[in-house]
Amino acid sequence: MLFDLTDQHRAVAPKILSPIVAPRPVAWVTTIDAEGVVNAAPYSNFMLCGFNPPLIALAPGNKEDGTAKDTAVNIRKNQEFVINMLEESLLAAMHATARPTPYGVSELEGSGLKMVAGISVKVPRIADCPAAIECREHSTIEIGGNRLVVALIQRVWVRDGLFNPEDLSFDISAYSPIAHRISPAWYCRSNDVFEHKA
Ligand SMILES: Cc1cc2nc3c(=O)[nH]c(=O)nc-3n(C[C@H](O)[C@H](O)[C@H](O)COP(=O)(O)O)c2cc1C
Repeated sequence: MLFDLTDQHRAVAPKILSPIVAPRPVAWVTTIDAEGVVNAAPYSNFMLCGFNPPLIALAPGNKEDGTAKDTAVNIRKNQEFVINMLEESLLAAMHATARPTPYGVSELEGSGLKMVAGISVKVPRIADCPAAIECREHSTIEIGGNRLVVALIQRVWVRDGLFNPEDLSFDISAYSPIAHRISPAWYCRSNDVFEHKA
C-alpha cells in the first residue's frame, strides 16, 4: 500500500504513522502555570535529539479548536518542563492525565501521585516515576497544527539502583519504560532486550 500524506491520506496521517513509527517512548510531561498549578500530560511525539548539548524535542499538537494544549502554553510562558519516564504500573494514572482538563485545573488533583520539587526548574517531578528529565525550552517552531518544542536538558534524576555509581554501567533489568505502539492505547514493554555482537 502507498499513502500520500500530502494529499489523499493527510486526514488519516495519525492512523498510518502511529503504528509504523513505533515504539515511541512516552514523555509524561509536567509543567506549571503562572499560579504554580501543576499540569501533567503524556506525549509520545517526543525524542532525544543530541548530546552536545543534550537536547530533546517534544511535539504537542494543537487542540481541535486550533489553540495550544496546556503543556505548550505553559512551556511558552516560563520555558520549563519535566519529562517523567513511565513504567507499566503508572499507565492508568498516566491515562487519567490525558483527559482534557480546563486550563488552570491540575490533572493531578485527587490522583494520589506525589510531586517532588525540581532542582534546576520550578516544575516538580512525579515521585513515582523511575527517571525525570528537567528541560528548558530553546525554541518552539509552529508548523500547521504542530508545535515542535526544542529544549536543552538541564538535570536528569534517576531512581537508585539503575546506574552503578562506580562505572555508570546500567542495569537493564531494573528499568522498563513502556512505549506507545498504536494510538490511542496500545503499548509495549521494553525489557525484551538482546545484545548483537558484530
Ligand atoms: C500515550 C499518549 C501519548 C500521547 N501523545 C501525544 C502527542 O505526542 N501529541 C499530542 O498533541 N497529544 C498526545 N496525547 C494526547 C494528550 O496527552 C492530551 O491531548 C492531553 O489532554 C494534553 O494535555 P495538556 O493540554 O494538559 O497538555 C497523547 C496521549 C496519550 C495517552
